Amino acid sequence: MLKFDPKIKSQFKSLHMKVTVVGAGNVGATCADVLAQREIANEIVLLDIKEGFAEGKALDIWETSPINLYDSRTVGSTNDYSKTADSDVVVITSGLPRKPGMSRDDLIATNAGIVKSVTEQVVKYSPNAKIVIVSNPLDVMTYCAFLAAKVDSSKVFGMAGVLDTARYRSFLALELNVSPKDIQAVLMGGHGDTMVPLPRYTTVGGIPVTELISEDKLNDIIERTKFGGGEIVKLLGTSAWYAPGAAAAQMVEAIVRDQKRIFPVCAWLQGEYGMKDIYLGVPVVLGKNGIEKIIELDLNAEEKALLEESAVAVRGVMKVLDDMNVMS
Ligand code: NAI
Ligand code: 2OP
Repeated sequence: MLKFDPKIKSQFKSLHMKVTVVGAGNVGATCADVLAQREIANEIVLLDIKEGFAEGKALDIWETSPINLYDSRTVGSTNDYSKTADSDVVVITSGLPRKPGMSRDDLIATNAGIVKSVTEQVVKYSPNAKIVIVSNPLDVMTYCAFLAAKVDSSKVFGMAGVLDTARYRSFLALELNVSPKDIQAVLMGGHGDTMVPLPRYTTVGGIPVTELISEDKLNDIIERTKFGGGEIVKLLGTSAWYAPGAAAAQMVEAIVRDQKRIFPVCAWLQGEYGMKDIYLGVPVVLGKNGIEKIIELDLNAEEKALLEESAVAVRGVMKVLDDMNVMS
């Protein structure tokens, strides 16, 4: 007869990965769907404040499992954080999205209250979770979550660069008529119109992009990328979700599988790039401990100036949050 060995059980338990996605709306549900279909976690909890909404989305996703052949479990919860307990990673997407004519910054008052209260609950039930913020305005909501979480900044960071870089890479792939798989790029700064795509660090199959495309065309693509979020808002009347949900899931995968991926991530800077006490998009190494390293590129004067300009814009919105006194 087989004897049960508790040591083996605890080993299996450590392999069990649990991810919570707060906000079962467009981005949150898409993220949960990607996590499930790619079996990135064993258990995916979807939580929303709207009665029955997360349960409905989680059930609908689970019902695709026999078709798409995966066994990650999706569980829904109406604001019951005990179901999220001991999550390894939590993605926060709760909050209002943009409507046409709104900037991401217009969302600050409502979303700061939501992100603060959600983060407090998340940390209460999952004190060791890595927390990925998606709610807008992204850089300042990440700052808001960091203040509310009171944990090390390596565990609280924001998703924007993976999405913005994906948009940039997808536009380049169309223009060059090549596979997007072969396009590598870095994009820095805030998640707004002052984001800083870096052509010097963009390659196509190892070839510098500047050798394959004219300066004018590249500048057009950079401009389109900066306003890529707004382009979708104009078309849909609300903001994007397929690419944002997939981008957040890719960050979760890097953490859960300890992949040490290099991604542009909204991170707390403490002297890097000559900046202090600000959340801004920079390249990092993402692994099981969250942000394991911030990579400092040797930017030229023009790139530094653009990053500075982006930081000024983010600091302006941080000040709005500080002046609102919602964090006390
Ligand atoms: P949505 O409206 O479809 O979903 C938001 C969900 O949050 C709703 O289901 C709502 O009931 C829920 N919610 C509100 N307050 C809550 C609370 N206190 N606790 C739990 N759930 C709560 O919006 P969507 O399109 O999913 O966007 C979500 C957020 O993500 C927005 O702020 C949007 O601007 C942002 N976003 C950020 C991106 C980025 O690159 N960082 C990209 C796309 C969207
Ligand atoms: C986006 O970039 C609105 O932040 C959202 O699609």
